[in-house]
Amino acid sequence: MITLTDKIALVTGSGSGIGAAIAECFAEAGAWVFATDCDEAAAQKTAARIRERGHRAESLLLDVSDETACRTVVQRVTEECGRCDVLVNNAGVGHVGTILTTKPEELERLWKVNVLGIYQLSRAVLPGMIVRGSGSIVNIASIAGLMGMEARFAYTTTKHAVVGMTRSMAMDLGTQGVRINCICPGRVRTPFVDEMLRQYDNPEDYLRQMEAPHAMKRMAAPSEIASAALYLASDAASFITGSAMTVDGGYTAGK
Ligand SMILES: NC(=O)c1ccc[n+]([C@@H]2O[C@H](COP(=O)([O-])OP(=O)(O)OC[C@H]3O[C@@H](n4cnc5c(N)ncnc54)[C@H](O)[C@@H]3O)[C@@H](O)[C@H]2O)c1
Repeated sequence: MITLTDKIALVTGSGSGIGAAIAECFAEAGAWVFATDCDEAAAQKTAARIRERGHRAESLLLDVSDETACRTVVQRVTEECGRCDVLVNNAGVGHVGTILTTKPEELERLWKVNVLGIYQLSRAVLPGMIVRGSGSIVNIASIAGLMGMEARFAYTTTKHAVVGMTRSMAMDLGTQGVRINCICPGRVRTPFVDEMLRQYDNPEDYLRQMEAPHAMKRMAAPSEIASAALYLASDAASFITGSAMTVDGGYTAGK
């Protein structure tokens, strides 16, 4: 039942980590995937990996903070395939700092990618979905969209906005056949996390610290977020809209 056979899916930030796992998972489920990223070479690698396994994928350069680029990419997908059925707004950036140590330009940088990026790309894709009376948007938020996190002021602010946007969009589009949901992952073992761990003298200790708040005492694999995205994007979730699904190994369960 959980399939994306012949669906056209656009995934942002799919050159690495969760986005790459989503692109691969969607292609395996039958979708024709457009793997996009501001790092063109990384997006190309994801698409090539998918094609090597015999599935359909193309890569496109897309910086989601660039409104014109968002419109151009959606136009390109629509011209080639006639439609875009699924949009995954995954691209996101992090930042460490409190309100006092976060500079305005740092907050603005996160706002442009994590919030405006979703706003711009969704606005580009929605008119087509509304005309067809069908579509699914999955936003990748974070548990930082549901609770406060120490020294993550800009990140927590923008991820709360992602949850708010998801609920607001769902309310406005509920009768038009378009579903909008978000996923709130706990910590996910992506290359980004591995790189961060390498910077500590004692990476094993820091790894345990990162894992400890999860009831399951481990981080997620990117594929575990991808399978939740697949479910929400698919018709199996036909009565789910406006949800903020935690996929957090129990991180928020005890809060
Ligand atoms: N890794 C985690 O622990 C975790 C937890 C919760 C939520 N998330 C969220 O999941 C999403 C993916 O995170 P990840 O860990 O896979 O990160 P990652 O750094 O491994 O990958 C992010 C990708 O997004 C791309 N990107 C960055 N800015 C972009 C822009 N302006 N336009 C287009 N692409 C851009 C990067 O080039 C990269 O390929 C983010 O929204 C992040 O906030 C991650």
